[in-house]
Amino acid sequence: MSEDAPKRSLLICGSPRTSGVSARYADLLADDLEAKGASVSRWDLARKNVAGCIGCEGCRGDFSCIIEDDMQELYALIDMADEIQLVCPVYFSGPTGQFKCVLDRLQPYWERRIGPCACHDRASEVKRPVVLHVIGAGGDPFGYEPLLTIVKSAFGSAGFFLADVVDRIGWGQGFEEEGKMLFPRKGSER
Ligand SMILES: Cc1cc2nc3c(=O)[nH]c(=O)nc-3n(C[C@H](O)[C@H](O)[C@H](O)COP(=O)(O)O)c2cc1C
Repeated sequence: MSEDAPKRSLLICGSPRTSGVSARYADLLADDLEAKGASVSRWDLARKNVAGCIGCEGCRGDFSCIIEDDMQELYALIDMADEIQLVCPVYFSGPTGQFKCVLDRLQPYWERRIGPCACHDRASEVKRPVVLHVIGAGGDPFGYEPLLTIVKSAFGSAGFFLADVVDRIGWGQGFEEEGKMLFPRKGSER
């Protein structure tokens, strides 16, 4: 990155809901990053289609994934980013299932940097930062340590380091929270 160029922030929202707490938090975060001069690219998983890794090892050799889905555009955005801002809801201490698919699909980077056919100069590489914003309702006694470990492992294999964790457990939560009333239970008044 040149001295004058704006920082290229890739803002990934890992929620399966288009208008949930994570999406609303990501809106504010994008505004904040832009106000600080960053050039923000936003990628919302809720609007994408990403399959899970099938462990085919097709990426061992040409370091690209054979699965043609929306992960392909995310690879391009990751390659261009100076930093990643990750907004991620906690599901039972870890990532959502949908977001775990994204994390597993970082495997081509592992193959390029670390795997048996790696062709990457890791010694001279400058690792890029990931800032993780953790969204959750709270009240779960098990915390979110597994989420941190999984993000560190997956993005670490792609040449990033976990620079900061912003704990937003409890932020924006509430019974009337938009979107949660769309599917009332049978027999419920609401
Ligand atoms: C299956 C499931 C598991 C959850 N597990 C946790 C948890 O372990 N800790 C927590 O703080 N919140 C937990 N939550 C609450 C969500 O993190 C919270 O509702 C969050 O706002 C979801 O993100 P969204 O609003 O962007 O969809 C869970 C929600 C679901 C549906």
